[in-house]
Amino acid sequence: MMVVFKLLIILSLISIINCKEQLYQRYRSPFPYYSKKHVDRKQQEQEQHFVSNDPPPPPPPYQELFFLQTLDHFNFQSKGEFAQRYLVSDVYWKKPSPNDKVCQGPILFYTGNEGDITLFYDNSQFVTNVLAQEMNALLIFAEHRYYGESLPFGNDSWTSDNIGYLTSEQALADYAQLIPAVLSEMGAEHCPVLSVGGSYGGMLTAWFRMKYPNIVDGALAASAPILSFLNTGVNPETFNKIATDDFKDTSSEGTCASRIRSALNDIVTISTQSNGLAQLSKTFSVCGAPLTDVNDLINWIESALTYMAMADYPYPANFLEPMPGYPINVSCSALAQQQDDIQGLLEVLHVYYNYTGQAGTCYNMSVFTTGALGDASWDYQACTEMVMPVSSDGVNDFFPPSPFSLSDLTQQCQQQFQTTPDPYWITTYYGGSNFSATNIIFSNGVLDVWRSGGILETRSDSIVALTIEGGAHHLDLRYPNPLDPPSVTQAREIESKLLQLWASEASLLKQRK
Ligand SMILES: *[C@@H]1O[C@H](CO)[C@@H](O)[C@H](O)[C@H]1NC(C)=O
Ligand SMILES: *[C@@H]1O[C@H](CO)[C@@H](O)[C@H](O)[C@H]1NC(C)=O
Ligand SMILES: *[C@@H]1O[C@H](CO)[C@@H](O)[C@H](O)[C@H]1NC(C)=O
Ligand SMILES: *[C@@H]1O[C@H](CO)[C@@H](O)[C@H](O)[C@H]1NC(C)=O
Ligand SMILES: *[C@@H]1O[C@H](CO)[C@@H](O)[C@H](O)[C@H]1NC(C)=O
Repeated sequence: MMVVFKLLIILSLISIINCKEQLYQRYRSPFPYYSKKHVDRKQQEQEQHFVSNDPPPPPPPYQELFFLQTLDHFNFQSKGEFAQRYLVSDVYWKKPSPNDKVCQGPILFYTGNEGDITLFYDNSQFVTNVLAQEMNALLIFAEHRYYGESLPFGNDSWTSDNIGYLTSEQALADYAQLIPAVLSEMGAEHCPVLSVGGSYGGMLTAWFRMKYPNIVDGALAASAPILSFLNTGVNPETFNKIATDDFKDTSSEGTCASRIRSALNDIVTISTQSNGLAQLSKTFSVCGAPLTDVNDLINWIESALTYMAMADYPYPANFLEPMPGYPINVSCSALAQQQDDIQGLLEVLHVYYNYTGQAGTCYNMSVFTTGALGDASWDYQACTEMVMPVSSDGVNDFFPPSPFSLSDLTQQCQQQFQTTPDPYWITTYYGGSNFSATNIIFSNGVLDVWRSGGILETRSDSIVALTIEGGAHHLDLRYPNPLDPPSVTQAREIESKLLQLWASEASLLKQRK
């Protein structure tokens, strides 16, 4: 019997249906969930590996605080509060004295995304070390509800009774409630507020400025795919086309990409032969029992390839897995040394999954990033309002074809959460491509797969799109590095100038009487 399979990639939410009509669930965050364990391990790894010539300074010290937050901002019948974590650093802050009419020290507020807030604090050093210093700003990083330590019901937060308070609308309302309270406590009510975020955090930051212009005066939304939804005119296939192009562009005639495509085709062919799965399990050093479904292997390979495109930074970094600078170039050079396509693909995978020997002796097909495991929060968001379709056509990208199917997604979500995703609510609520706002910078890296859903064109003096040639996923938020492409240095300069302009305009409007 021929194996017929269909791959559905919904962001990182992957479902597979094979001929046995078996429905698998494979939820991965596109912007992976960062558990506490993940953060600790990353910090250790960062110390062990990649001692660079120019180590960035540590991020400035912060205070960890908790805010008594309203559980449900949209239902007066519902009572309840929870402790929301936020980090504050006033190392560079020009705190207003009681007599200052105009505030000289703006607030840089990070709209926490789907993970432990300390990880975003540690990986946004353009904000914490550079912008904060240039602007004499107060740093506030707020944790997103249902992530890190901001769990409204502790370990019971994921039950069907309790998880319903997890939405982007509630998260933004948290931020809108937290900021005035904290500023009032600090005598900074008249200080301008600029918000910053990357990835889903960048989407939140853009939406925050759109929905709460009374709270936030300007925003830097880095790699924010606010158009990666249905009904925005974005082709869900572009995501995988960008990943493929990144591999294509490292070699003459695109041989790296075409050989990866051949290797994937070979894998599918081998899997249909008797003993094929056993053979593949051996070739790919699969942990434990041999593969029972080739899709497990293909998912694992696809994750590596798209995550490498997301994290194709110019210098060694440890964003999803520890990798060398320009990992796609490094992996394509290694592939070119191999005659056999599958052996070549193994070299590519090695750069992602095992560059520092982190994989151990075998590869676990359900592990896609170091330590980022098993949290249901993003899965739930992806099964409600955050439906961000990704598909492949096998022509413009090197993956086996896999169209997006809303009905399959719905079936999965009903199984896991008893939810029916609403793919149109986000664009209805936030405006999709037709949003109306001022004072937002949208930055996107050309190498980044999430550029596919970004705002790529400047719309006015104050809705500004920056395209970063040679840049991956929110490279601009990282600490400046001598290996940075000139485009990111330029983007950071524009970001700094615009944010300072918006802060000074707002500080005049907000001055004390
Ligand atoms: C929640 O679970 C973690 C990990 O299992 C455990 O360490 C922690 O003590 C639990 N917290 C509570 C409040 O039960
Ligand atoms: C990566 O490869 C491409 C294509 O060969 C080349 O243009 C680019 O300069 C390389 N980048 C680095 C940092 O080696
Ligand atoms: C793979 O990793 C998962 C998640 O940590 C674990 O539950 C599973 O036992 C591992 N599988 C093997 C074969 O080691
Ligand atoms: C990972 O790398 C280490 C060190 O180079 C090697 O010993 C190990 O076999 C590799 N693991 C796999 C699964 O290839
Ligand atoms: C945005 O506006 C354009 C032009 O008015 C319209 O064609 C398009 O359907 C709108 N898109 C959405 C998502 O509302």
